[in-house]
Amino acid sequence: MPEATLADAAPLSRCRTPTLAVVVPTYNEAENVPILVARLEQALAGIDWELIFVDDDSPDGTAQRVRAIACTNPHLRVLQRIGRRGLSSACIEGMLATSAPFVAVMDADLQHDEGLLPEMLRLLRSEPLDLVVGSRYVSGGEVGTWDRRRASMSRLATRLGQRLIKADLKDPMSGFFMLRAEVLQGCVRDMSAVGYKILLDLFATHPGPLRFRELPYRFRPREAGQSKLDNAVLWEYLLMLIQKWIGPMIPARFIAFSLIGASGVLVHMLVLWLAFKLAGSSFLVGQTIAALVAMTSNFFLNNLLTYSDMRLRGWDLLRGWLSFVAACSIGALANVGIASWLFQAHSFWVLSALAGILVGAVWNYAVTAVYTWKR
Ligand code: GDD
Ligand code: MN
Repeated sequence: MPEATLADAAPLSRCRTPTLAVVVPTYNEAENVPILVARLEQALAGIDWELIFVDDDSPDGTAQRVRAIACTNPHLRVLQRIGRRGLSSACIEGMLATSAPFVAVMDADLQHDEGLLPEMLRLLRSEPLDLVVGSRYVSGGEVGTWDRRRASMSRLATRLGQRLIKADLKDPMSGFFMLRAEVLQGCVRDMSAVGYKILLDLFATHPGPLRFRELPYRFRPREAGQSKLDNAVLWEYLLMLIQKWIGPMIPARFIAFSLIGASGVLVHMLVLWLAFKLAGSSFLVGQTIAALVAMTSNFFLNNLLTYSDMRLRGWDLLRGWLSFVAACSIGALANVGIASWLFQAHSFWVLSALAGILVGAVWNYAVTAVYTWKR
């Protein structure tokens, strides 16, 4: 069937869609939700809008809190995702869940200035712009109270990001912006959607330059709850940069998986050296222990980093570890088999070994993606 077009929809005058959707990703923000809703009501008076919370099944019951408020407030929706984590993917799914022509993204923790929203909307409606960004780094903007580590981390990430997108965007790390919905819809399939850096992802993915404007605001201190930005987020950021550099053909998870696999080689060599050289075990015993330790460290690192959005916990860890070791053992056999077969045929030993490693890595990645981190 051909895709439905705008012509299939009701004439614009009869369109019942709200003008603006505000998408708010949440994880443990139950305390902040009622305050945010009240502030948005005030800031957006006179605008036809809806508010979409995208909650990753917060243990503090954020989704239930939203539903309770929604009983008396027709603007509210909640999209509750089970067994998933991730800020970028939450924002993207929220933005795709509306048919409003303009979509804003902002944090739930009251750090962003909702007073900017009407001006963002006015600009998008009256000027030839795709996107308006709330910026801490244009004149009049401020980062507020940040410790030195966080401030320098943000500066470094900002600089790296600016290199990637080749646009003069002063605050590419901003999590506060408004855009025309079709801008996202047009390129969403090519976005990497991992980590925090959704704006950067959008700029790097959009074919052709985006027409944007930055509006200054002061990043307020967080009052209730905690920030979820940790070291894993830095790693995800790095991955996204690598992904953009390599291109969309190779999935970010495979890159992470391969980097961790390479770290496993070091672990293997270290353990083998300890067992064989220092403790005097036989080579076979040393090699077996080293392989098991390396697989185990690969498993935990992948669980922590490659699959940070679907981490296994509790008993699932044991099941996951068993399936990981089983898959990787078969992968090792495939690796050796292919490599020796190629070596017999051509006797290029480096190429044969690399081909074996590649086949083993792809096998391990594909099988563990299905059997170890399954949902
Ligand atoms: N659904 C979902 N899933 N929401 C999440 C997740 C998640 O895994 N992690 C965080 N959030 C929500 C929080 O509940 C909050 O509403 C918002 O995303 C921002 O998270 P914070 O943990 O408060 O992040 P931050 O204040 O440290 O970072 C902010 O500033 C950065 C710039 O320095 C965010 O705006 C970032 O997007 C921004 O890059
Ligand atoms: Mn915050």
